[in-house]
Amino acid sequence: MRFDVITLFPDMFSAIKDEGVVARGIKKSLLSIHTWQLRDFSDNKYRNVDDKPYGGGAGMVMQVKPIRSCIEKIKQKVPNTQVVYLSPQGRKLTHQLATELSKFESLTLLCGRYEGVDERIIEHDVDMEVSIGDYVISGGELAAMVLIDSVSRQIPAVLGNQDSLNDSFANGLLDYPHYTRPEVIDNQQVPEVLLSGHQANIDQWRAQQVLKNTQLKRQDLASK
Ligand code: ADE
Repeated sequence: MRFDVITLFPDMFSAIKDEGVVARGIKKSLLSIHTWQLRDFSDNKYRNVDDKPYGGGAGMVMQVKPIRSCIEKIKQKVPNTQVVYLSPQGRKLTHQLATELSKFESLTLLCGRYEGVDERIIEHDVDMEVSIGDYVISGGELAAMVLIDSVSRQIPAVLGNQDSLNDSFANGLLDYPHYTRPEVIDNQQVPEVLLSGHQANIDQWRAQQVLKNTQLKRQDLASK
């Protein structure tokens, strides 16, 4: 799967390009991330890409021209790319949406800064707006990285044999608790059943824990 990212801060993406699951996916040629510096598409010598809002008010707005030129350039390489704008006004990113997005061969992620982009970009150039939650962060880059990570995990080969089928939310419920060595630490004991070697009992215990955990921590999911 290919991700093209339009951003004023391409270096931020080294956080996922260089370490962890996404980086391994890139090494295995299952994923690629191409960052595009929006300033390269500016039409002035100061490399500005924003201007004051019509109607007045605080902040600056990202202009149509550089964003549209950049998207056109990307579409010359990947004509069928799905253009996603990261914004607090978008569809909420959930496990379900990450799975849907993982079916596309190519996503172009537009990262806003300042007050966001000129509305005409959203009307004309963007296929989908996606939000990572009901709060505002200072730009779309962190949101784009969250999206890339969560979508990449849904591509089975990226995780290898440690698949994402048991991730929290994969079945609409939370995960079961995990333990590793030692068996006892500071009087805290690993649940006996996990040491029993009896896989059917372990599976049953884990299934019970999934329900208990979800009831306890996420009533909203449990009552669905
Ligand atoms: N940009 C600013 N806040 C955001 C959010 N909550 N989700 C996605 N992009 C954003």
